[in-house]
Amino acid sequence: MKNFAYYTPTQVVFGKAVEEETGRLIREAGGSRVLLHYGGGSVERSGLLSRIRASLEKEGLFRVELGGVVPNPRLSLVHEGIALGRKEGVDFVLAVGGGSVIDSAKAIGYGLANEGEVWDFYERKRKAKGCAPIGVVLTIAAAGSEMSSSCVITNEDGWIKRGYSSEYSRPRFAVMNPELTMTLSAYQTASGCVDILMHTMERYFYRDGGMELTDGIAESLLRTVMKNALILRDDPSCYDARAEIMWAGSLSHNGLTGCGTDGGDWASHKIEHELSGLFDVAHGAGLAAVWGSWARYVYREDAARFARFAQNVMGVSGAGTHEEMAEKGIKAMENFFRALNMPTSLAELGVSPTEEEIRTMAEKCVRGVGGPVGVVRPLEVEDIENIYRMAK
Ligand code: NZQ
Ligand code: ZN
Repeated sequence: MKNFAYYTPTQVVFGKAVEEETGRLIREAGGSRVLLHYGGGSVERSGLLSRIRASLEKEGLFRVELGGVVPNPRLSLVHEGIALGRKEGVDFVLAVGGGSVIDSAKAIGYGLANEGEVWDFYERKRKAKGCAPIGVVLTIAAAGSEMSSSCVITNEDGWIKRGYSSEYSRPRFAVMNPELTMTLSAYQTASGCVDILMHTMERYFYRDGGMELTDGIAESLLRTVMKNALILRDDPSCYDARAEIMWAGSLSHNGLTGCGTDGGDWASHKIEHELSGLFDVAHGAGLAAVWGSWARYVYREDAARFARFAQNVMGVSGAGTHEEMAEKGIKAMENFFRALNMPTSLAELGVSPTEEEIRTMAEKCVRGVGGPVGVVRPLEVEDIENIYRMAK
């Protein structure tokens, strides 16, 4: 077991109609001049934005607004948000949306609390010394950014998608009403479920340390998400299934399923981030498209772990070597992705990178990490190229 620090300062307010408490929560968190940040229109169409405005007005909070965050959020809008926030003396950033809006809010928060170019943090040139306080009203269960320390931004100059993590950016509160996710398309719901699974699986496939309790929580979380994802496929308006998935989304990425380990592998995420940076695909769908190829490329390094995954998560039974069990487990997870109408190849994802693009993505991937990617089998540029080719 490895030493660990577990820090989850986010106040979670969960259930029906909780968005009405947003104004009060900002006040309690010390905010008075709010930048209300949102995406491309879903929150306007659903009427959520009007309810949030009313909740802020009820508390007498000053407000400026910046919409237009796109999936795989862009650095240029972050710059716009920082300029607006500075001009208006903003002291709190409220994200109403999904991972993209939350991450854009976090990046604006970094820009408000630090001098100089915010992209420096994502390029690992320097570390942030703070972040303006962030609050979240979550509308999609997926990225887990509502409780995570992570923030992923795409720089249009070169289409470089990079994450930056620091404890400063963990939101002060997360308002989570599962009903708000009922307007999602089947594709976005399923894509979110894959991302939640993957945040747990990235941590589950570690090399060093480990705890029985952490493994048990992870396996239970994975089984719960799989079960409820299928319920939502058939009945998108099932509140209880929406709630299970939403809470799992937060727990899968707030650090809980990484306690006592080396932190996990994360190669599939890095490999996917290059895809969504270059081709602008949905992050969860991109993960589904590459995971099987990653797993087949690396599982022999720790076949026992993959065999345990097959048995405890995928319900694979019967006798067999670790390798045989591992292969059955990988296949079962791919079949599950298919059952959710998620892609299991780049072609199904709608992407066909050239050899040159494959090389560029693999090089950027290794450069972004600053060395080999992942821990199960540390991957060099050539390995990552092979995985992209296998995933075609
Ligand atoms: O922009 P709008 O109109 O709101 O539409 C969004 C968007 O098109 C739509 N949507 C969200 N809630 C909705 C809704 N449509 C109808 N009803 C609702 N209730 O869904 C689309 C996707 O939204 P987005 O925020 O992009 O989804 P997600 O939460 O999956 O976030 C993806 C981003 O998060 C990053 C990903 O790389 C990607 O950039 N990640 C962030 C992480 C973090 N900060 O901890 C970790 C993750 O691994 C991930 O990398
Ligand atoms: Zn993810």
